[in-house]
Amino acid sequence: MSICYHEGSREFHLSNRDISYIITVLKNGQLGQLYFGKKLHDRESFAHLLELRHRPMAVCTYEGDSTFSMEHIKQEYPSYGAGDMRYPAVEILQENGSRITDFVYQTHRIYDGKPALAGLPATYTEDSKEAQTLEIELKDELIHTTLILYYTIFEELPAITRSAKVIYHGTEKIVLERAMSCSVDLPDHDYQMIELTGAWGRERAVTERKLQYGIQGIYSMRGCSSSNFNPFLALRRENTTEACGEVYGFSLVYSGNFLAQAEVDTYDVTRVTLGIHPDRFSWEMKNGDEFQTPEAVMVYSNRGLNGMSQAFHSLYRARLARGYWRDRPRPILINNWEATYFDFNEQKIYELAEKAAGLGIELFVLDDGWFGKRNDDTSSLGDWYPNEEKLKGGLRLLAERINGLGLKFGMWIEPEMVNKDSDLYRKHPDWVFAEVGRNMCHSRNQYVLDFSKKEVRDYIYDMLERLFLDLPISYIKWDMNRTLSDIFSNGNDREYQGKTYHKYILGVYELYERLIQKFPDILFESCASGGARFDPGMLYYAPQAWTSDNTDAVQRLKIQYGTSMVYPISSIGSHVSASPNHQTGRETSMEMRADVAYFGTFGYELDLMELTEEDLEKIREQVVFMKEHRSLIHHGTFYRLKSPFEGNETAWMVVAKDRREALVAYYRILQPTNTGFCRLKLEGLDEEVMYQIEDLDYDCYGDELMQSGLILSDTASGVRNSKWKEKGDFQARLIKLTAI
Ligand code: DGJ
Repeated sequence: MSICYHEGSREFHLSNRDISYIITVLKNGQLGQLYFGKKLHDRESFAHLLELRHRPMAVCTYEGDSTFSMEHIKQEYPSYGAGDMRYPAVEILQENGSRITDFVYQTHRIYDGKPALAGLPATYTEDSKEAQTLEIELKDELIHTTLILYYTIFEELPAITRSAKVIYHGTEKIVLERAMSCSVDLPDHDYQMIELTGAWGRERAVTERKLQYGIQGIYSMRGCSSSNFNPFLALRRENTTEACGEVYGFSLVYSGNFLAQAEVDTYDVTRVTLGIHPDRFSWEMKNGDEFQTPEAVMVYSNRGLNGMSQAFHSLYRARLARGYWRDRPRPILINNWEATYFDFNEQKIYELAEKAAGLGIELFVLDDGWFGKRNDDTSSLGDWYPNEEKLKGGLRLLAERINGLGLKFGMWIEPEMVNKDSDLYRKHPDWVFAEVGRNMCHSRNQYVLDFSKKEVRDYIYDMLERLFLDLPISYIKWDMNRTLSDIFSNGNDREYQGKTYHKYILGVYELYERLIQKFPDILFESCASGGARFDPGMLYYAPQAWTSDNTDAVQRLKIQYGTSMVYPISSIGSHVSASPNHQTGRETSMEMRADVAYFGTFGYELDLMELTEEDLEKIREQVVFMKEHRSLIHHGTFYRLKSPFEGNETAWMVVAKDRREALVAYYRILQPTNTGFCRLKLEGLDEEVMYQIEDLDYDCYGDELMQSGLILSDTASGVRNSKWKEKGDFQARLIKLTAI
């Protein structure tokens, strides 16, 4: 890995074993983008890649030179005013009304390691030799504003992180109206754009469109990253598959309003931009103020979508997620939500816990309803003290009794929200987002606390600290069940309002940080009506996230498949729930439900008291299986093999880092009859190694399993059978491979 600066050509070349990223200082001092892709030999200059030509109607910078036009130059962090007609990365409104800026190269620094981003989540290094950072300082003299662009390249990953900082030294006020985290101009537009779209209960569906001229983008203006779109997009070549071909992935380490867009100009250049959504954002700056953008991560893979995802997985699992639980085996949990909803008392909870302990489950999570006077969703959010009427002996005693069963104890909170029917709201009605004189919109009967205000966060922190100190807590599920709307911060001036959305999410991050610093051993799981805030920002604080409220195994194939595009398996909260499923009414076997849920942070969310002895015995076996395999599943390399978005079958596998073992999962939704033979081509195995295939009477070399495939044909097709004796819809099969 290296970052070279070529003095003569004023070019920067960031490279490692896999990728190159090349930037130039243009004649006008602004930055040009020369190349991003597979690693290239270094050379003194790549200036020929600028391709300066005369073009009719071009806006040109220099008199007597009709070739230098910012409209046609591929740029690094474009601004408005120098002739570029595309969307800029930065836009600053000045006191005289001008929005023209001209950021000119001043100096740069190259160093080992990676700086932290104050108040923001970001990837990090543990040893400074793992990555190198380039800081390029640019300045607009006229408005006394400095812009620092940060680039970090990791030694072992085809990944570059980027962010920008604006520092203001002038005396007049300026307003930052747009400050994106990254902008990259790619020389053609021959791509399919992949995004993760959805809604509650069908989060992160893999969706594709061919890039067209103009703007195509995804965004959130909901105050959270949302279940509708995820802060991620990828550009793949037409022939790129999961297993091979070129793809660029872009991911934003942020949990609030975002914009991720690809703009194709009519000269076929694609500009990819990611950052805080510029709408509903205006950041006034005075002398000495600094603004730091969130971080964007750019991955290039020529090993297909799996190559891209594996880079994100490695980075996010080990160098974004942090703390005590990052590498530790995640406890197998039971959550009482779908078992009881709000209808429980201490006896019911204890019985459930007792049953769970007998099955080998390790953690009991007490979900919504344990606090204030909460018996349904109309009251008590904000009153983070135990519901003594419901839990007669008190929460502490219950938690201790649960611990006494050999189970760890965890619980649910929703700190950002309040119900009108709560002590908190009665005391501080002005702490919610609302504009006096206008209707306050609710969602699930709740309102959003103004976390941009320190006194609000402090109050909630004190309440939670008291609670956590009083109870033997090992796990917290931090929920957030509404999107933000009608945002107005009471008591604050006009300028403040343009900062509120961002300050809100910074406030959420601050509260998380205080709690994890104070309680480093607690495992946090983030949640937002299921997966409405499943983003890299949250992973910095909570290494796992509740993926979706939809726990139906069949639907989960799509949700987990889509989530795995970016997010490591160790972050994907997945539980076995009841059948018929509460969200879809679908009936699936206990085996199918577990075989899907294993590929995540495993747990149960159903009433164990209603199960037959036979089902309980299955759970006992599943728990043993997961304990044996969780390290392989969470730390191995994950490969998607067959997409649920394309047909009746889904398949994926994990391979241990040393390739001595692997676990293949194959799922079939509807039962076909008398179809052709079925072979599944595996990935990531060692070609030279002979693998024993569980339940088959022959072994195979890795090369055969990858080139010819694993034979999966079954009785239903009228052919050879192995373990798969079942017929019927919703079938799953796990196959373990072990090197011999
Ligand atoms: C939404 C979450 O996604 C559910 O798992 C559950 O915790 C409910 N909220 C509780 O209100």
